[in-house]
Amino acid sequence: MSDSPRFAVLGFGNMGRALVRGVLKAGLTPPENVTVTARTPARLSAAATEFGVQTTSNNRAAVDSADVVVLAIKPQNLEAVADEIRGAVRPDQLVVSILAGKATDAIGALLKDGADDPPLPVIRVMPNIPVMVDAGCSPYARGPHATDEHVKIVEALLGSVGETAEVPEHLMDAVTGLSGSGPAYVYMMIEALTDGGVKMGLPRDVSIKLAAQTIYGAALVVKETGLHPAILRDQVTTPGGTAIAAISDLEENGLRPMLISAVVTATQRSSELSGA
Ligand SMILES: NC(=O)c1ccc[n+]([C@@H]2O[C@H](COP(=O)([O-])OP(=O)(O)OC[C@H]3O[C@@H](n4cnc5c(N)ncnc54)[C@H](OP(=O)(O)O)[C@@H]3O)[C@@H](O)[C@H]2O)c1
Repeated sequence: MSDSPRFAVLGFGNMGRALVRGVLKAGLTPPENVTVTARTPARLSAAATEFGVQTTSNNRAAVDSADVVVLAIKPQNLEAVADEIRGAVRPDQLVVSILAGKATDAIGALLKDGADDPPLPVIRVMPNIPVMVDAGCSPYARGPHATDEHVKIVEALLGSVGETAEVPEHLMDAVTGLSGSGPAYVYMMIEALTDGGVKMGLPRDVSIKLAAQTIYGAALVVKETGLHPAILRDQVTTPGGTAIAAISDLEENGLRPMLISAVVTATQRSSELSGA
């Protein structure tokens, strides 16, 4: 594959847009090497105006000229898009799917023209919504026909919008339960901390700023020091002080098992939805 691969991004919603922005910002390829597709002309002209990329509503034409085909449509649109591009996807291309709950072998089989066609390299990704601000978490799993070279391309693509990690495909439901759905849990925590501040008399705008920045800052310290969160928690817990009084409350009210259970429940739901 060339140093400036040609990307076809099928679907230009929240995720498609974030990935196109990341690819261009990271200089992985110039805008003329990116083709974006969508159904509505307004969306396509917005993509052309904002990023200077090629646009078309013809998925097959976009796929024909691409090295990397990114599926960024909704899972319920997959059948229709597959009908359009079936047989046009070649084994010398890489298919990157961000569709929740769609396994690499199912996608490969859906896009092949006939059972005797050569297998397609497919890599499956579970991004999360902070890719919109380049702070995403996008674990991926490679299908059996994806090579290390394909993985390098995907790591560059996902690295342009945040962090990434390779996992075996059977753990894709678990990453959905943790980082895929995780922003929802954290939004709830920010909301609840904000309410706590408001209850204690802080103006709401100040309270939400403090709550969001506290979570952001604490997460950054975990990432940058590499220290276990329990060590960091001990560092800010003065004997007889405020933090230990609150920690005791949180333990009594089950914060820890509640969060573990949230990840387990979301993982199980992901597995049900993907029919595993
Ligand atoms: N959002 C998340 O937090 C999240 C997290 C992980 C994974 N994902 C996955 O990311 C994918 C995209 O999600 P999203 O939130 O970006 O969805 P979205 O905002 O609804 O965008 C979907 C895009 O697909 C386009 N589309 C639909 N049918 C099409 C077709 N036949 N040909 C070409 N384009 C078509 C739509 O175009 P029109 O508007 O013109 O119809 C739209 O641009 C989903 O599969 C989802 O499972 C999302």
